[in-house]
Amino acid sequence: MEEKRQHLCLTQNKFLHHWCCTLLISFLAILPSTLSFNYGKALSKSLLYFESQRSGRLPYNQRVTWRHHSGLSDGLEQGVDLVGGYYDAGDNVKFGLPMAFTITMLSWGVIEYGDEIAGAGEYTHALEAIKWGTDYFIKAHTHPNILWAQVGDGDSDHYCWQRPEDMTTSRQAYKIDERNPRFGRSRRDGSGNGLFEFGDKYRGKYDESVRVVKGYYPSVSGFKDELLWEALWLYKATDKEDYLRYALQNANEFGGITWSMNEFSWDVKFAGLQVIASMLLVEEKHRKMESKLVLEQYRSKAEHYLCSCLNKNNTSNVNRTLGGLLYVRQWNNMQYVSNAAFLLTVYSDHLRVSNQRLRCDRGKMGPEEVLAFAKSQVDCILGAYPMATIYLVGYGASYPQRMHHRGGSIDSYRVNEGFIGCTQGYDDWFHRKEPNPNVIIRAVVGGPDQMDEFSDDRKNFMQTEACTYSTTSLVGVLSKLHGLEED
Ligand SMILES: *[C@@H]1O[C@H](CO)[C@@H](O)[C@H](O)[C@H]1NC(C)=O
Ligand SMILES: *[C@@H]1O[C@H](CO)[C@@H](O)[C@H](O)[C@H]1NC(C)=O
Ligand SMILES: *[C@@H]1O[C@H](CO)[C@@H](O)[C@H](O)[C@H]1NC(C)=O
Repeated sequence: MEEKRQHLCLTQNKFLHHWCCTLLISFLAILPSTLSFNYGKALSKSLLYFESQRSGRLPYNQRVTWRHHSGLSDGLEQGVDLVGGYYDAGDNVKFGLPMAFTITMLSWGVIEYGDEIAGAGEYTHALEAIKWGTDYFIKAHTHPNILWAQVGDGDSDHYCWQRPEDMTTSRQAYKIDERNPRFGRSRRDGSGNGLFEFGDKYRGKYDESVRVVKGYYPSVSGFKDELLWEALWLYKATDKEDYLRYALQNANEFGGITWSMNEFSWDVKFAGLQVIASMLLVEEKHRKMESKLVLEQYRSKAEHYLCSCLNKNNTSNVNRTLGGLLYVRQWNNMQYVSNAAFLLTVYSDHLRVSNQRLRCDRGKMGPEEVLAFAKSQVDCILGAYPMATIYLVGYGASYPQRMHHRGGSIDSYRVNEGFIGCTQGYDDWFHRKEPNPNVIIRAVVGGPDQMDEFSDDRKNFMQTEACTYSTTSLVGVLSKLHGLEED
């Protein structure tokens, strides 16, 4: 049984096709409806998730109508307008760094797969989802050297179980400035707003400058990956040599060409920036300059990450569950899966257009094989799994019904405008056995443990909470897979 489970997620992988046919047949009887996936359907509502997570004054064209205005006085005490942005997950705090990553990854998806997203009719929705984030960050950047990095705090928020529309918890805002430094995001407009310069000049760790974030989003990798990540994005956005030079000159000191990664996340961004840097080599101008050697070192590290996802390194690979899902850690593992699927998908396109293969210890991998593996991971999310659980909410029939999500688990404001207090939410809603009244469509939940076990229980936040920084990467990957079906 275990041997069979090991490869179920990989049934779409051509490479393994001959081993898997027998498995497929033996499983068809058990899982008749789970073996074909509708990427278009999965994609079609994917941006709704971001509407569910909106904070602020909701616009007239809000499609997720069970939500209502919230957080309308955010920033008021501090004399700044911090209304808007996104709640990060199942609570009502606005955490700057994960939010920035969410917006950057959604933007990257649109940059790579804009045509496919447009083909599926989701382009405007995607831009709106990005703008909801960037509008907020522009407001939060009130001075060249001030960025408001958080509203609310985990401790007081988690003490209550309340709809965002009812919040009575602290909405204290926290800023980073010269004394509490740390830049907060990659800006795509490159308009010289000074945020990168501020972050570079006043260096500091996210959870040391914004101390209240420590118990919730401690930064393991520090700020050096973000400085490289931001420099590379600014280079792509502006074409200004200075940014590239920064990423080349600091590549060694900041770990860009020394860290061999096995994960890519809102915190640990090395694998992502290594992929971005290595793809610059397709352009002639980067192969000529003094940049070539350093970019090749970046590429070697990018290859390490990708090969280790593909289980093609001789000594160090990303672990997998018995069913074949990439497994990094038990708390919200799906974020690592969707982020890996994104980098693998983008890199497979890069290999195809540049006519290359990925060089791993255990052989070279062509673009088709790399994409097939990314697809297998998406298929796992969509229910190609030993337990046939669907981890994308609102897709198919057997998705989780008891997400760890405050707004989702309480009757909506639309249904019940009466105030629901801090602990009343726990008493009347959190501890119920019944399914959540509101479905958080297209949220990706935390997912199963290493044994593929998943328990659909609201208290089980490691598995049933979704976060914005998982679904965000899936948008691009789904549009790529959907685009292939259309061809
Ligand atoms: C495989 O992993 C080891 C250990 O991290 C590393 O030294 C080696 O370079 C990797 N091989 C490739 C091809 O990335
Ligand atoms: C894989 O899992 C083992 C056992 O839990 C752990 O020791 C190891 O560090 C993991 N490998 C990676 C690359 O995460
Ligand atoms: C990886 O392992 C295989 C089989 O043991 C061996 O033939 C190959 O040379 C190794 N590759 C590297 C780069 O170490």
